[in-house]
Amino acid sequence: MANSETADQPEPTRRDFLYVATGAVGAVGVAAAAWPFIDQMNPDAAALALASIEVDIASVEPGMSLTVKWRGKPVFIRNRTEDEIAAANEVALDELPDRLARNDNAAAGASAEDANRAAPGRENWLVMIGVCTHLGCVPLGQSGEFGGWFCPCHGSSYDTSGRIRIGPAPENLRVPPFEFISDTTLRIG
Ligand code: FES
Repeated sequence: MANSETADQPEPTRRDFLYVATGAVGAVGVAAAAWPFIDQMNPDAAALALASIEVDIASVEPGMSLTVKWRGKPVFIRNRTEDEIAAANEVALDELPDRLARNDNAAAGASAEDANRAAPGRENWLVMIGVCTHLGCVPLGQSGEFGGWFCPCHGSSYDTSGRIRIGPAPENLRVPPFEFISDTTLRIG
């Protein structure tokens, strides 16, 4: 009879859970201060081994997002809709407060057009550090007037490419190092 109650519980169906990956911090600066899970300042060898994480994105359908934790920070993984991609591509560079891609996978100084921020060859996938570039709050997804992310702390709105559009945040949401190691698996870090 053990666990007869829990056996009746429905399986969780939502996939936007957090992967827990302890690991190195330090590169985040002030932005990290607002992410409450960061308390591992001296990562041991086991933690450093998690400098990279692999994420199964097979069930993240268009219009869905997944948030994972990487090196103590939230990372947003979004499978964008056609409309979101189109909206991102319609924006001229001179409309952007920050015209740099802020993409660790792109050349330094790459411009902020959507193609330089989305996954190469898979423009529906957007992978970004989920830390507002103002003072480090975690923005809300699919919110704000540009349909991307909205940081309620001081009112920064990011578009569907994660680029800052209005508000005090100075930079676009950063794209961390990542690659697809299969059609359904992403490695971050
Ligand atoms: S921390 Fe996001 S707007 Fe200030």
